[in-house]
Amino acid sequence: MTFTDAAMDFDRYDRIRPIRWQGDHLALLDQRKLPFVVEDVACADSDAVARAIHDLVVRGAPAIGISAAWGAVLAGKGVQAANGAEALERLAPALDRLQAARPTAVNLMWALARIRRVMAAAGADWREVLEREARAIETEDLAANRRMGALGAALIAPGSGVLTHCNTGSLATAGFGTALGVIRAGVAGGRIARVYASETRPWLQGARLTAWELLQDGIPATLIADGAAAHLMKGGAVQWVIVGADRICANGDTANKIGTYSHAIAARHHGAKVMVVAPSSTVDMATPAGEGIEIEMRDPAELLSVAGTRTVAEGVQAWNPVFDVTPAGLIDAIVTEKGVVERPDAARMAALFGPGSAA
Ligand code: MRU
Repeated sequence: MTFTDAAMDFDRYDRIRPIRWQGDHLALLDQRKLPFVVEDVACADSDAVARAIHDLVVRGAPAIGISAAWGAVLAGKGVQAANGAEALERLAPALDRLQAARPTAVNLMWALARIRRVMAAAGADWREVLEREARAIETEDLAANRRMGALGAALIAPGSGVLTHCNTGSLATAGFGTALGVIRAGVAGGRIARVYASETRPWLQGARLTAWELLQDGIPATLIADGAAAHLMKGGAVQWVIVGADRICANGDTANKIGTYSHAIAARHHGAKVMVVAPSSTVDMATPAGEGIEIEMRDPAELLSVAGTRTVAEGVQAWNPVFDVTPAGLIDAIVTEKGVVERPDAARMAALFGPGSAA
């Protein structure tokens, strides 16, 4: 089978939906509890959505942006205004709180900028305009992922082994996933013969979420400790490291889950290639290079315990940056729904995205 959009059996491979708009509230699949408890958190107002983003009930750059857009719809529920501009003024504090929920994934700022833009121009029907925009942000993300699946899989030679990090699947997006979408398409098309998932300390997105998602699809995957990646690559089992992104700068530098940079260094050393897969909503042409990205620091407590049980002696300190930046020079291809940037640099990025066209 080839992996054109038409050949891909999306229903067979993509059944999880982490974000569900219910008309009066937002249902979010609680990713803190997976894989053993499958349970929703119901968010009835925008501050509940902001809290859910901050606490990682919902996570993954595109999913954060989509949730924030629905959070804006919830914020509009209690507002009375004659037009969009007036409503926007009243919504502003709630939108600011949503935007402050996490700092690194630019999709959050991008989605709220879209909401602000349509609201500023809306008339008396601003409520419908707002809801329509949130729905568009969600449906466009699903379409982008399916397109990227085909584009990314086409780069992979038949019979390849791939390693992915963190979770970039349906759980992290409107559905299908970014890097995991490429893996789904690559497996369906016979290009990918082996899938490895690194566990992604400390929050274990790879072990708890990616391994579970792939199991739902019947895609055999092998879990490895993060520190086993270089050793695995040395043996020749991995031809592509395929990851998502939280922010891609104008020169191609890419922020993604902590540990991505180490995987990319190991890949270059051992002759494996690195593919970053992200929708154009993750491209931030306003940030020239990786130094300009704020890296989220989370509570050191996340490192000091495993599943709620303390594993480290009292008195030990921990440092917990949850993203790192992979320099563009270590990336072989950036795959977006707008096209593929091979060996990314500022000129090749600008050729596809235009200078300062995003964010
Ligand atoms: O802290 P998280 O789980 O939100 O981090 C997620 C990642 O780093 C993903 O790789 C990235 O957001 C892309 S998700 C399609």
